[in-house]
Amino acid sequence: MDQGQKFYITTPIYYVNARPHIGHAYTTIVCDAIARRKRMLGYDTFFLTGTDEHGQKVERSAIDAGKTPQQFADEVSALYRSLFGRMNISYDDFIRTTEPRHQRGMQELFSRLHGQGFIYKGTYTGQYCVSDELYVDAACPGSPCPVCGRPTETVSEENYYFKLSAFAEKLLSHYQQHPEFIRPETRRNEVIAFVKSGLRDLSISRSTLKWGIPVPGDPKHVIYVWLDALCNYCSAIGFGSKDEADEKKFEHYWPADVHMIGKEIIRFHCVYWPAFLLAAGLPLPKSVIAHGWLLFEESKMSKTRGNIVRAETVIDVMGNDALRYFLLREIVFGQDGSFSFDALVQRYNSDLANDLGNLASRTLTMISRYFNSSVPYPSPTVARKPSDDAIKEQALAVIAEFGQLFDEYQFSRALESAWSLIGAVNKYLVEEEPWIVAEKDGEESRARLATILYTAAEALRVVAALAYPVIPESTGRIWNQLGLGEISRFDLKELKWAQLPLGGKLGKVEPVFPRADKTAIERMHQMEHERNSTPSGSSTAAPAEGARPEQPATQAAHAPTGAAAAAATDGKITIDDFLKVELRVGQVKTAERVKGTDKLLRLEVDIGTEVRQVVAGIALAYAPETLIGRKVVIVANLQPRKLRGLESNGMIVAASVGDQGSPVLAGFLEDVPIGAKLK
Ligand code: MSP
Repeated sequence: MDQGQKFYITTPIYYVNARPHIGHAYTTIVCDAIARRKRMLGYDTFFLTGTDEHGQKVERSAIDAGKTPQQFADEVSALYRSLFGRMNISYDDFIRTTEPRHQRGMQELFSRLHGQGFIYKGTYTGQYCVSDELYVDAACPGSPCPVCGRPTETVSEENYYFKLSAFAEKLLSHYQQHPEFIRPETRRNEVIAFVKSGLRDLSISRSTLKWGIPVPGDPKHVIYVWLDALCNYCSAIGFGSKDEADEKKFEHYWPADVHMIGKEIIRFHCVYWPAFLLAAGLPLPKSVIAHGWLLFEESKMSKTRGNIVRAETVIDVMGNDALRYFLLREIVFGQDGSFSFDALVQRYNSDLANDLGNLASRTLTMISRYFNSSVPYPSPTVARKPSDDAIKEQALAVIAEFGQLFDEYQFSRALESAWSLIGAVNKYLVEEEPWIVAEKDGEESRARLATILYTAAEALRVVAALAYPVIPESTGRIWNQLGLGEISRFDLKELKWAQLPLGGKLGKVEPVFPRADKTAIERMHQMEHERNSTPSGSSTAAPAEGARPEQPATQAAHAPTGAAAAAATDGKITIDDFLKVELRVGQVKTAERVKGTDKLLRLEVDIGTEVRQVVAGIALAYAPETLIGRKVVIVANLQPRKLRGLESNGMIVAASVGDQGSPVLAGFLEDVPIGAKLK
């Protein structure tokens, strides 16, 4: 691989007709894990997600909720953003189809298709499925949608058509020449069969609907929501913009390397999208990967069944990594898989708390105890045993195997391979009994103890590096405890045996995966029950009682209550006081000088859930144009105040430097998602 080779991965953009659930989280987590591994391998990675906000489905949901489509879309899109913030999703951009940059890209694409002669006007009379936003060919009034089974509606309108029929041969030959274009194989076969059965031209505009992007030059029509949605993959990286930087960005990242999607939207991505791109003279994405469906306890999640599971519930009780690990380990990627709280807790306890957690805690605790927290020097000759080299050999084999399986999207098998190493090292520790060796006197025993613990720690490091994309928070903590710094900066291409710096100091050793008890399952059921029974189904329900496994126990233990809190008056504040301040990562969207003063800037800052106007006294230190796109820390729960007649809703955090107290904005070395909370 060339250094810095680009890798562009996308999730589907999510409909804003309803709140996100664990199925949406699944697609996003899979992409996040892939993106994290690619970054670690040195790829110039761009990970895009976003929301699909136009169309009849959203318009109707908004009307039902008594809101305008824009208000409704703003609210639900913000829910996605804040959920992805909480989930630590490392996306590089979040596109909304209601943004001007998307509208511009979409209109450009439409004009190109038109200019190339692939669009004409005609009359469509037939069936339409609102739920799937799909024209259903050859159906009679009232017949069910072939995708979701819901009754279709008869529509008759003058539309713009796309000459899809002209692309059947080209598509078939593309599928043949690029077998990697559609994966897995079964989906590829389905697509080929669909195209071979004949393609009819596609209606790509609606005149009975207002909530969409107007057709260029004919604003009575809005563009069909699927054409609108698919175009996000291009518009987000600059397509349609005349700005030089945008043009370069598009040239650099397009075509996408991976469009990750659920199996039910394969036709849109593997037939319509490539046909639109071929017609517009644009390169086709390298691959479309379809995953299966997440079922709840074997049945499809649905509102009517009341069995929709929210990612928030699992995160609140079990933490992000528990959810990520479960979804990638338990579900065979590509196939449908079942989710249940019992299975989640069982997996967590066996693989994370028992296997990895135990390996980390006993290895690190023994190094702290017997070697004063310094990585011991293994002896190359004294008291070595074949079992030491067997671990090394297995680790090297796992490094190769894990990479190969993961890169073929066989996440479950890749994790199984990494966990086979964990199992082997735990067995090695049981057999070599370092705790008994530590009791014995003499040079030889000391050398033996050093070799055993070094071997275990090195294997732990290898597992952490490999598993980081799947469980980034906990492997990050293990990495710190190994004294290795920031795990995301590790160059995975260079992962080998024997890289742990000898004599290196360990960080503070703390349990990474506390065991989850039975109440975790009950708490999740209870939270789901409450979430499903509140009409708005607040996605920000308070965490259940008790420390969740992912939360450092110290945080809860340090929070004084009652008398202890009252006693804390020696100029120090309690953690509870600190937690009252809501600090969030925001991104500056616009910045301009405030008239009549040379000190103030008026900023619009996106904090994930909304865009805030903030008036900041930083104009002497920062030119407004240098701030656009910059991530800042904002105090998000300050009472609004007026400055020069402008309401300021929050405060930007900055260091005050030198005699003049010049502001230097607080920021991050790593990329952080917008809306992420600081604590
Ligand atoms: N808006 C379209 C996509 C447009 S992309 C140009 C859409 N949105 S969606 O919100 O309905 O679905 C988005 C993704 O979530 C799809 O990949 C879908 O498969 C996934 N999931 C939604 N529910 C799911 C499960 N229960 N299980 C797994 N994933 C499912 O389609």
